[in-house]
Amino acid sequence: MDSLGPTKIYAAILTAGVVFGLSGLVGRLLVHPHKLDHPVLVIAGASAPATTAAPAAVAIEPVTPLLAAANAQTGQQLAARQCASCHTFTEGGRAGVGPNLHGVVGRNHASMPGFNYSPSLRAKAAEPWSYEEINAFIAAPARTIPGTRMAYAGLANPQQRADVIAYLRSISPSAPAP
Ligand code: HEC
Repeated sequence: MDSLGPTKIYAAILTAGVVFGLSGLVGRLLVHPHKLDHPVLVIAGASAPATTAAPAAVAIEPVTPLLAAANAQTGQQLAARQCASCHTFTEGGRAGVGPNLHGVVGRNHASMPGFNYSPSLRAKAAEPWSYEEINAFIAAPARTIPGTRMAYAGLANPQQRADVIAYLRSISPSAPAP
């Protein structure tokens, strides 16, 4: 009997460990701890003022110097990912959420017939889209043309914008020389 002593003790410790572990598991199953998705306490003004003020201050890098070396094929792929959810690019393509973009470089703002443009874009209907205007618009639509209906966050990378614009130029018969 004595020789069973250590084994019993060992078994008891093991059992205790298993029970302890299981009770934690059962506890979690019963209680469903739920991590908060958002902080409960939001302190007004706690976010650094610099970050809120920054976007307005950042100048949009011009795209013209990058256009000569831009890659229209990369631009087409980017446009497929970034723009095609709202725009078509083929000649005579239908409007989606946004207007068809075939020939957009050099054509007037808000000039796809029948498309319901925002008043902000229609206000510029007498002006053709230049490279730099498209650049600024796709970098920061809402900042460049306040009131636009183009709900797109913007393409931050200047090289990517140059590639997209090179692609738009390649499908724009009346595009001016950059
Ligand atoms: C979420 C949908 C959406 C996405 C994504 C989007 N656009 Fe637009 N786009 C619009 C809408 C809507 C308009 C019309 C805006 C208005 O009327 O104010 C527009 C207008 C435009 C115009 C002006 C066309 C004209 O006829 O005057 C250009 C240029 C343009 N988009 C380029 C792009 C490019 C390039 C991308 C991708 C980098 C892109 N858009 C991504 C919805 C979108």
